[in-house]
This record gives sequence, structure tokens and C-alpha cells, in this order.
Amino acid sequence: MGSKRKILFFDTKPYDRDFFDKANKDYGFEIKYVKSHLNHNTAEFSSGFEVVCGFVNDVIDKQVISVLKRSKVQLIALRCAGYNNVDLAAAYKNIYVVRVPGYSPYAVAEHAAALMLSLNRKTHKAYYRTRDGNFSINGLIGFDMHGRTAGVIGTGKIGRCLISVLNGLGMNVLAYDTRPDEEYAKESGISYVELSELYREADIISLHCPLSSETHYMINEASISQMKDGVMLINTGRGKLIKTEALINGLKSGKVGAAGLDVYEEESDYFFEDFSNSMISDDILARLLTFPNVLITSHQGFFTREALSSIADTTLKNITEYFNGGYLVNEICYRCEEKQCRKKLNKRCF
Ligand code: NAI
Repeated sequence: MGSKRKILFFDTKPYDRDFFDKANKDYGFEIKYVKSHLNHNTAEFSSGFEVVCGFVNDVIDKQVISVLKRSKVQLIALRCAGYNNVDLAAAYKNIYVVRVPGYSPYAVAEHAAALMLSLNRKTHKAYYRTRDGNFSINGLIGFDMHGRTAGVIGTGKIGRCLISVLNGLGMNVLAYDTRPDEEYAKESGISYVELSELYREADIISLHCPLSSETHYMINEASISQMKDGVMLINTGRGKLIKTEALINGLKSGKVGAAGLDVYEEESDYFFEDFSNSMISDDILARLLTFPNVLITSHQGFFTREALSSIADTTLKNITEYFNGGYLVNEICYRCEEKQCRKKLNKRCF
């Protein structure tokens, strides 16, 4: 409380400022907000700040980390769950990294469900038709989700919230996770299966695993070829889980019946910004936008009042914890998954 520690916030929008200013009344940090992403061109701005706060599309690689270190930044506080954009090996023993692991899994899961429901019943198209005085329903036919099979990849916080929604719709759920939890499967009435079976059986596949070297481009030509004809793919995880070129080919051939994308592999140049008065030079994104059965949202899965308020509070709590010394509940390091990580002993990672 009352600390005047200085934090530099990158990639901020008016809504970030609203929620962080409100939360900061309980913490009293000195916050400076900038609009730019944190990357090679902007890392120098960090001079004079002890903490930098970054978001999903900031590039926090080895080079950026060395500039932050030179600027005497002690802590990188991510205000998001995913940390695929941080070179944790480069940060290790140089700068601590904390994140917000679970602010509102409901927000993202509900958005994934919204994408599925819209794509299935084509409400995104119906909206424009009726506003234009066109009350025809030709071409808007969908299917009963009740009784169909959903495949959920990644049964962590978000995957589980989605599963309860899908159970509510009366869908059969098949799941894949590298760490299956059989007790949870029993409780929720789902079955863990191998990826090949999930691909073969699911009418709708939704991705909720983190982006890692293992999951990079997991949806590619080979995996799409194993899926049901007309499968619906939903991605609210990270863009690079899907090889977009393979998705486009799948859509063109009809193998993929619909795609709901809240993330895109090259989103950092476009998402969160207004390009309505300019043009899109990314031909792959432009092509995706031409399909009537593709619904793209601009990484807004997290965007609920509850989530923003929780993100702001947890981020400032993480920073307070850092300056108070001791254990950092939400610290991440590249060894966190390994037994050697000190976090397992309730100590800082280094
Ligand atoms: P979580 O850590 O609670 O769950 C992730 C699950 O994925 C775990 O059960 C883990 O065992 C599993 N997993 C790890 N590697 C896997 C693999 N190779 N194959 C299958 N499963 C694997 O994470 P949470 O909170 O559920 O978030 C999931 C992802 O959603 C995040 O990593 C992030 O990328 C994304 N996300 C997207 C948001 C948006 O606004 N669109 C907002 C928040 C998160």
C-alpha cells in the first residue's frame, strides 16, 4: 500500500487505463501508460521503470529482455495468462516474470461457445439480412448441437468451463489433454481419448491448450485430413495453434465446414486496432475474411468487465508481492514444469 514504485504499461487502450486506474486506488503505484507494443523499437522506453507490464502481442524476446535488463527493469508483469511471447530462458536469472493465470475462464469459454452457436445458426449473417429488410432464411440452416460430439483440446480452466456449457447443450464431449484428469472426466461425464480419435469423431473441435513447441501448428494438413467432413474448428487459444494456410485449404475444399477464430497467427499487426479506413495487406487474413463460414473476432475472449477487473487486481497484487519480497504465486520460469524449479518449494524461481 502507498508504494510509489514506477510501472510502465505497454500496448494500452482506454479500457485498460479505466480498469487499472480503478484498481490502483488500492495500491498507489505510479503508472505510465503507452500505446505502443513492447518490442525491439520500444524497449528503451523502460529506462527509469522498475516494472514493465505487457500483453499478448508484445514481443519479449532475448533482445528486448537484454534492453530491459540494461534499463534496470526487475519485473515483467504480464496482464494475460499465455506467455508464449516471452523468452523465459533469456529472462531466467535476469528478470522475474509474473502473469495472471486465470482471471475469468468463463469469459473465454463463453466466447468460444458464442462462436460455435453463431457459426452453426449463422446469426452473424441473419443480423445483416434482417437489418437490410431481407427476411429470407435460405442458406441459414444449422444443426442441433444436442447429441453431437464436441472435441475439447486442453482441459484446464477454460476447457473445463466450456465443457460445462457443452454438457448443458446436451453434447457428447471427447477431450484430449497431455495431463488427463480421470476423476474430472468421471465427474463431468466426458471421455479422454487420443487426438486421432478426437479428430475422427468430433463435429466441433475447440482449442484450449497453450501454445508451445509441441502444439505449434497442431492443426495442419495432416490433422485436418483426419477430421470429419464439415468439421467446425474454434480457436480462442493462440493463433499459431493453427497453420492458417492449411485451414484455408480445408475451407476451400469443404473439409472444414466453419471456423471461429478469436486469435490468428499474425494477429499482432491488426488485432485491437481500427483498419476500417485503410487496407489489409496480409493476404492470408484478407482471404480468411472472405469466407461466409468464418467468423473472426479480434482476441476479445477475455473481454468482460469481470475479467478486466480481475486482471487489473491480480497484476497489481503480483507486483506488490514482488516488492514485498518472498514467494511469487504467479511467477513463471522456463523450469517451472521441471522438478528443479524452486517454485515447487514455494520459493522464487531463482
Ligand atoms: P490452463 O493452464 O488452465 O489449461 C491448459 C491445459 O492445456 C492444461 O490442462 C494442460 O495440461 C493442457 N495442455 C498442455 N499442453 C497440451 C498439449 N500439448 N495438448 C493438449 N493439452 C495440453 O490454461 P487456460 O487458462 O485454460 O488457458 C488456455 C489457453 O487459452 C492459454 O494458454 C491462452 O493461450 C489462451 N487464452 C486465450 C484468451 C483469449 O482472450 N482468447 C484469454 C486467456 C487465455
